[in-house]
Amino acid sequence: MKILTLETTCDETAAAVVTDRLEVLGAVVASQDALHQRFGGVVPEIASRAHVERILPVIDETLRRAGVGLRDLDAIAVANTPGLAGSLLIGLSAAKSLCVALDVPLIAVNHLQAHIYACKLASGEEVFPCIGLIVSGGHSSLYRCPGPLDFDLLGGTIDDAAGEAFDKVSAMLGLGYPGGPAIERAAARGNPAAFAFPRPFLQDRQRLDFSFSGLKTAVRYAIAGPGRLDFSQIRLTPEHTADLAASFQEAVVDCLVGKAILALELTGERTLCVGGGVAANARLRQRLQEEATVKGVRLYVAPLRLCTDNAVMAAIAVERYRAGRFESLELDVEPGLVRTSRASGTNAAGASKPIPR
Ligand code: KG4
Ligand code: ZN
Repeated sequence: MKILTLETTCDETAAAVVTDRLEVLGAVVASQDALHQRFGGVVPEIASRAHVERILPVIDETLRRAGVGLRDLDAIAVANTPGLAGSLLIGLSAAKSLCVALDVPLIAVNHLQAHIYACKLASGEEVFPCIGLIVSGGHSSLYRCPGPLDFDLLGGTIDDAAGEAFDKVSAMLGLGYPGGPAIERAAARGNPAAFAFPRPFLQDRQRLDFSFSGLKTAVRYAIAGPGRLDFSQIRLTPEHTADLAASFQEAVVDCLVGKAILALELTGERTLCVGGGVAANARLRQRLQEEATVKGVRLYVAPLRLCTDNAVMAAIAVERYRAGRFESLELDVEPGLVRTSRASGTNAAGASKPIPR
């Protein structure tokens, strides 16, 4: 059985062909980093236009690499939540068109569940039940996941996502976009204790939320002072930049690790799965490993190639296929965060027939 999976939630146009045995026959990711670089962040309108241009070539190339034809596909899966509305729509429209043309069922993928599923794919081990920490450009959330398709939101950012903070601080430091890898490189030469940046909610043992907006502002003040915010006039030495980057990174890592461990303690779960673009961060990975060892927790962090957005992790569609959870062509995009699988706009209860027409 072969499923074509599509991913267009943000600024990567990606496709993969996966089998029911979770083999990846072919996969392509077309990154839009170059298009958004000069804006220091993703511009939604540019992203959706680029998806329109890329989706068909990406599908063609994926099928070529997989050595399969359109007629060999048994289902089409697409991430329809959460993400940028205009971006999600391109993937969903392509998926629906293929379903109609090929007369195969449509499967909905929750992008955040897919980020967690990347841990199962990469390890080949059963990772559920677990706590899922998803840290990306758009999300910083903690979920309790009894199984691959079931989840409840435990907490998340009340303002910016961790990746968004990396990107904006990188722009302030003149380090470019995407900010995560640039900050990580600069931080390697810096002192993480040079600046005492805030760690919101970290001491609150009842709350599993994050806030990175104030941290961004604190870095801004550390660079330019409260009244002077013209970054083009400011010259930072490489040492100063490295210290700012390292101190900022340490504050983010402290919050993410602290709340992930608290989530395990509050729920009694013993497994932590971590995914999303920010999970590529080496300092975060190191600190998670240290804490997991101390606490005796099973830790799975997605491998680098599956941290940033890709369609391979959408192999979670295989679980839905097995459970007979198909969608009608009425399926819509759901840009906002889904808090629980019970309230998901996708067909959580399971349809008896694939694509009722
Ligand atoms: O998961 P992803 O590809 O897209 C979203 O769903 O948002 O995550 C992209 C985010 C960007 O904000 C990028 O700066 C961040 O992940 N990122 C990193 C690293 N690599 C990518 N953040 C920290 N350290 C990294 N090494
Ligand atoms: Zn993502």
